[in-house]
Amino acid sequence: MSWVEQLRASEAICRRAPSAHNTQPWRPEYHADEITIGVDPARSLPDSDPTGRDLTLGIGAFVETCLIVSAELGLAVTAAPGPRLIPAANRYPTPFTIADIEARRVARGPYTPGYIDAAVLADLGPGIVHVPTRDLVSDLAVADRWLFSTPAVAVELRDWLRLRPRHPRYHLDGLTDRALALSGYEARFLSAALRAYPVTRRLGLPALLAASGRGLLRYDGTVLVLLADDDDHVAAGRRLLRTWLTLARHGLAVHPLSQLIDCPATAGRLAERVGGQPLAVFRVGRPRAEPVRSARLGG
Ligand SMILES: Cc1cc2nc3c(=O)[nH]c(=O)nc-3n(C[C@H](O)[C@H](O)[C@H](O)COP(=O)(O)O)c2cc1C
Repeated sequence: MSWVEQLRASEAICRRAPSAHNTQPWRPEYHADEITIGVDPARSLPDSDPTGRDLTLGIGAFVETCLIVSAELGLAVTAAPGPRLIPAANRYPTPFTIADIEARRVARGPYTPGYIDAAVLADLGPGIVHVPTRDLVSDLAVADRWLFSTPAVAVELRDWLRLRPRHPRYHLDGLTDRALALSGYEARFLSAALRAYPVTRRLGLPALLAASGRGLLRYDGTVLVLLADDDDHVAAGRRLLRTWLTLARHGLAVHPLSQLIDCPATAGRLAERVGGQPLAVFRVGRPRAEPVRSARLGG
C-alpha cells in the first residue's frame, strides 16, 4: 500500500480531530502522492463564524491529527500550504500517539476547583495566556446573551444540536445532549425553546439561557487564551490541537468558550486583557465526571 492508501485506511482516526459545533468541515482528497485537505462548504458556520476563524482552526487540528497518525504508522509525511500532506524525508516529529488522539475530548460539565500548575503552563510554550475563571464571569453572561439573542447565530447552533438520541444524526456529527452535559430536563427545555425560537426570543429566552450558564466560571480555575502569532490560522489550529493534547497528557480537559471572541463587546475586552489577538478561549481542568466520546461521520 502507498503512504496515501495507508493514511486513507486510518481516516476514521484522523476524523477524531475537534471542530466547532462538531461540523467536521474537512474534506480530504487522496491523490497518487499527496492528500489535499479541502473544506466542505455545507459544514461551515457562515453566521456564527463569518471570518472562518474556527473553520480554519478545525482544518489545522485535522492536519495535525493526520500528521500524528502518519508518524505512528511509520510514514514520512509533512504538511504543506493548501493545506496538503506531502512526502517528507523523515517521520513527523511528535510526542503524541493515536492513543492520545482517541483519548482527547472536550468536557463541558463541572471541574474540580484549582488553577493549572506553572509547570503545565510552561509545557504549553508561548502564545498562551492564563486568565482566572472568575474574571470572565460577567463577560461570559454578556457573550451568552449575545449568542442567544442574535437570531442567525442561535438558529445555526440549533441546526447542529442533537438533543435526543432519536435524532437521525445523533451518532454522526453536531452536539448531543450528552456531549453538552445536559440533564434530561435541560435538553428538553433547550430543544423546546430553540424550536419556537423567534417567539421565545421575544419572551426573554436569551436572558434565561445566559443566566443558566452563569455558574460555569464561578469557581477558582483556569481559562487559557490562544493568541495569534501571524495570519496562518491553519498553523494556529495545529498549535491548538497540540495544546489540548499536552493538557490531556496532564489529565486536564478543555471546554472552549468561543462566544467570548465571537461577541464583539467581549472580544474587544478580552483582546485588551490578554494583550493580543485571541483565536481560541477555553477553560481547563479536571472534570468531575468522565466526558462522553463525541460523534463522528463514519464512526
Ligand atoms: C475552533 C473550535 C472552537 C470551538 N468552540 C466551542 C465552543 O465555543 N463551545 C463548545 O462547547 N465547544 C467548542 N468547541 C469544541 C467542539 O464542539 C468539539 O471539539 C466537538 O464537538 C467534538 O468533540 P470532541 O472535541 O470532544 O471530540 C470548539 C472546537 C474548536 C476546534
